[in-house]
Amino acid sequence: MTKTPVVSLDHATIRIGGRTVLADASFAIEPGEFIGVLGPNGAGKTTLMRSILGLLPPSAGSIRVFGKPPECGQASIGYLPQIRTVLPDLRVRGMDFIGASLHGERWGLPRLSHHDKHMIEDTLAAVGARELATRPLSQMSGGERQRLLLAQALIGNPKLLLLDEPLISLDARHQEVAINVVRQVCRDRGITVLFSAHELNQLLGAIDRVLYLGNGCAELGTVDEVVTAPVLSKLYGSEIEVVRAGKHIFVMSHGADVERTDHAHDHGHGHGHGHHH
Ligand SMILES: Nc1ncnc2c1ncn2[C@@H]1O[C@H](COP(=O)(O)OP(=O)(O)OP(=O)(O)O)[C@@H](O)[C@H]1O
Ligand SMILES: [Mg+2]
Repeated sequence: MTKTPVVSLDHATIRIGGRTVLADASFAIEPGEFIGVLGPNGAGKTTLMRSILGLLPPSAGSIRVFGKPPECGQASIGYLPQIRTVLPDLRVRGMDFIGASLHGERWGLPRLSHHDKHMIEDTLAAVGARELATRPLSQMSGGERQRLLLAQALIGNPKLLLLDEPLISLDARHQEVAINVVRQVCRDRGITVLFSAHELNQLLGAIDRVLYLGNGCAELGTVDEVVTAPVLSKLYGSEIEVVRAGKHIFVMSHGADVERTDHAHDHGHGHGHGHHH
């Protein structure tokens, strides 16, 4: 008997705002896989995660999550959105911030039972943030807040974790810490992870496979299968060169590293994708 994939697309087309983000895409993500989701700005990483959450049904073909059409509000999925605009009251302690999402109410501080408190403490401990329970958000660094959000995504023991650009605003060392924490927690609990990022190199040691998006296409496979000049040239819609140097892989277009230059453009004018850095 074969295992039911955690996420599968069967000739799925995803459209948003008159734009085809994915056209006729088919792939299957297996239980327990740690998938790095890559692709240039606007490739559809966030849109795909929203479709998996059931927020945006495919216009053709099908998407299945745990073998069924996705439903909104599934407890089995933990989600860390890319745009974290909901600014909680900064005086709130870490424990209360997570507690507020426990029973579905985002606003107002709930009264936490002993059981809830223990669960939150265990989850914070799992992401190495035990001491954040009693600290107000106003006194946390960006990286600490990020770990708190990760803990929030892990509440309720999800079987699938969708982390949309969890490395944003972290420095190199904390990026590595975050990747390792996710890797460890998810391996221990058998959680399947989709982890979007702009840089492949930091993820190389952690991911099982990569899902590379671009140009309406999706390629899922090992790094060696997907991160090649022919595949990426198709996804970027231009001539791409893949340069390997030791353990690093550089994706180059006309001599420039596309991952780095694309990312640098985020801070300037132009893409209009609503980036919050
Ligand atoms: N609500 C929307 N209405 C119209 N178009 C949208 C909407 N959301 C996204 N798009 C478009 O869909 C495409 C995919 O966007 P998406 O946010 O999924 O890309 P992404 O891969 O997450 O990019 P980034 O790396 O910038 O986060 C983009 O061209 C974007 O402009
Ligand atoms: Mg995105």
